[in-house]
Amino acid sequence: MRDLVKVFDGFVAVGGVSLDAPRGSIGAIIGPNGAGKTTLFNLITGHLRPDRGHVKLNGRDVTGIAPHDLCRLGVGRSFQRTNIFPRLTVFENVQAAFLSHRGRGWNLVAPVERLYRAETEALLESIGLADRAGEIAGFLSHGGQKQLELGLALALEPEILLLDEPTAGMSATETREAIRLIERIARERGLTLLFTEHDMEVVFSISERITVLHQGRVIANGPPDEVRRDEAVRRVYLGERH
Ligand SMILES: Nc1ncnc2c1ncn2[C@@H]1O[C@H](COP(=O)(O)OP(=O)(O)OP(=O)(O)O)[C@@H](O)[C@H]1O
Ligand SMILES: [Mg+2]
Repeated sequence: MRDLVKVFDGFVAVGGVSLDAPRGSIGAIIGPNGAGKTTLFNLITGHLRPDRGHVKLNGRDVTGIAPHDLCRLGVGRSFQRTNIFPRLTVFENVQAAFLSHRGRGWNLVAPVERLYRAETEALLESIGLADRAGEIAGFLSHGGQKQLELGLALALEPEILLLDEPTAGMSATETREAIRLIERIARERGLTLLFTEHDMEVVFSISERITVLHQGRVIANGPPDEVRRDEAVRRVYLGERH
C-alpha cells in the first residue's frame, strides 16, 4: 500500500498510509477505536475506493478493483461483523463458498449437494468444525460462527488473508484457541496474514510485524519488541489501556 487516503465528508479516516505485507508474513494492524483499521482493510479489498494512493498485489496495481475480482486474485477477508449464511448448515456454508469460488466445473450433472464434498470435509476438519458439520450455522456459538467465517474465507483459497477482529466478542479461552488456529492455518498454507485485534496479548504473541494506526496515520511499524518500546505508541495507545 502506498500513500492511501480516504476522506469521509471532510473527515480523514485514513491519512496517507504506506505499508508492506511481505509474502508469508503475519502482521497486525492495531490502534484505538476509530483509528482507521477497518477503513484501511476496505481500501485494500476494494470495498472502498481510495481518494489517493494505490495498492499493489504481487507487483500488479489492483487499486479500485471490485471485491470479487480481488478475491479471485487471492485477496480473502473476514468482516468485523460475522458474515455467514445463518440458515444453512455448517457444511452447506463451506460447500457454498467452494461452489462460488470454483463453480460447478465439468460436474454439470452431479447434484449440487455432492459437489466439493471431500474439500468441504477436509476444510471443516482443519478449522475444527468437522463434528458440527450438520448443525445450523446460526445456532453455533459466537466463537463457532467466527471459526466458520474463517472457513468461508479459506474456501476461496486466498494468498493474502485480512481478518478484521477475528476474535471480537470471544471469551479469553475462545480467543486463545481461535488465534492458535489462525496461526497454524496461516503457517500451513503459507498465507500472508494481516489482522486487526484489540487483545494486545494476542497481537504481541503471534505477529511478526505490528503497525500502529492513530487517527488514520501510521505512528509505528516494526517487530513487536520495537513497537512495544516505542514512545509514541505508549503515549497514544498502550498507555491508554495499561
Ligand atoms: N462510511 C463512513 N462514513 C463516514 N465516516 C466513516 C465511515 N466509515 C468509517 N468512518 C469513520 O472513520 C473513522 C475510522 O473508522 P474505522 O471503522 O476504520 O476505525 P477502526 O480503527 O476500524 O475502529 P474500531 O476499532 O472501532 O473497529 C471513524 O471515525 C469512523 O467513524
Ligand atoms: Mg474496525
